[in-house]
Order: sequence, then structure tokens, then C-alpha cells
Amino acid sequence: MDHHQGRPGRAEGQDLICVIRLFLVALAAACCCTAARADGKGEHERRLASELAVMAGDVRRMAGDQGGVLEREGLVKRLGGALSSLPLLLRRVQGEVAAVAALRAALEQPDWRKLATQVEALRKRHPFDARHLLDTVPTREALALGASIHTSTCAACHDAPAADSLLPAKNLAMQLNSMSREEFAARLWLGVRGDQSTALANPFSDAELSALIAWYGKIR
Ligand code: HEC
Repeated sequence: MDHHQGRPGRAEGQDLICVIRLFLVALAAACCCTAARADGKGEHERRLASELAVMAGDVRRMAGDQGGVLEREGLVKRLGGALSSLPLLLRRVQGEVAAVAALRAALEQPDWRKLATQVEALRKRHPFDARHLLDTVPTREALALGASIHTSTCAACHDAPAADSLLPAKNLAMQLNSMSREEFAARLWLGVRGDQSTALANPFSDAELSALIAWYGKIR
């Protein structure tokens, strides 16, 4: 399992492999359902859109002088990584690859406001559609599912408030409340990665992700 794939701070990944595998085995046994994943262009668009939504949020934190010294260093690294994969993601959807050079220049300076404007322009053209992950009125079953996934697979890392570190694991309910639900949904969709058995895709179905979001929104 490569949780938060391609990003710094992957030391804990091995633990999560086991945790998620156990969870998946239990899940498959319980309901024989696996993650519903779109494929083809829709999947590429979704990946690009979620990456841009996360980038926009990270740049906003940098521009707003948020986060400790180490976390900011982690965010710069993550933005650098995101910019390296952006040309490929854009090419897959016949997007505006040429725009990436200006983004790189703004990151190198660094000019956070300029980068924020540029990322925002791209994000508007490739919006992350989170509607299917955001239940307006979550059912009791959805809240119970969210609570149980969180407790069994996420709480160990996310419930202890992290000290300043390169990309710390945060309290997820607090994180949700510090940003738009769309941005949180994009982080959740992009941030949790499966292992080889899921071709590194997010191992959770949309219903499970939406249950997690509903539960984090409820326990603020
Ligand atoms: C082994 C420890 C560990 C476990 C277990 C874990 N995470 Fe994380 N998570 C992290 C760390 C460390 C980060 C910060 C690094 C990063 O953002 O890539 C993080 C970041 C995140 C982020 C934010 C990503 C971003 O873009 O800022 C979300 C959302 C998230 N985790 C959700 C979850 C959920 C949901 C679960 C349970 C299904 C989970 N995590 C389980 C360690 C863990």
C-alpha cells in the first residue's frame, strides 16, 4: 500500500498496508463489494481535478502564511511533486500543458499569490465534482459506517494532534472544517491510496468516502 502516494512522509505506509488490507478483507467478506472506480478519460479528469483542488488549498496555506516551518517545507515539496505530474495529467485530457512552465516559475520564485491565481485558473477549467461524495442529509447508516471505518483504519494516525512536521497527519474533522467540503473530498479521494491489488487507486468506494466525510462533518 502506498498511502498518499508520491508524497513525502511515507514512512508509516507499511503499517497502513496491513491496516487497509485487513479492512478490505473484512469488507469483501461482509458485502462482496469493491471500490467503484470510473475508468478512461473520466478517471483521468477526476485525478487531475482532485490534484488541482489539493494544490489550490496548499498554495492558499502558503500564501496565508499558515503552518509551521516544517509543514511549510513539506507543502513546498508536495507542490513540486504535484507540478511534476501535472503535464502528464493534463496531456491525458488534452489539457493546457504549456501552462505548467509559468506555474513552475512562480513556485521557484516563490510567488504564492501568482501561483494561487494560476492554479485557480486551471482548477476552474477542471473542477473536482464532489457532488456524489457530499450527502446533504447523511443517513444514520452512513454516519455509522464513517465512524467505523475511521476507528478501525484512520484513528491510529489521525486522532493524535501532530507536532510540526513535514506533512503531519491531522485531525480529519478539524481539517474538514478548515476548508470547503469539495477540497476535503478531493484530498480524501486523492490522499488515500490502495496497494498493487487496487492498482494504487483509492481502496474505498464513493459510498464509503461519502460516509467518512459525513461523519467528520458531524463530529466537529
Ligand atoms: C499510518 C498512518 C496513517 C493512517 C492509518 C492513515 N493516514 Fe491519512 N495521513 C497520514 C499522514 C502522515 C498524512 C499527511 C501526509 C500527506 O498528506 O500525505 C495523512 C494525510 C491524510 C489526508 C490529507 C491529505 C492532504 O491532501 O492533505 C487525508 C484526507 C487522510 N490522510 C485521510 C485518511 C483516512 C480517511 C484514513 C483511514 C482510511 C487515513 N488517512 C489513514 C497518515 C495516515
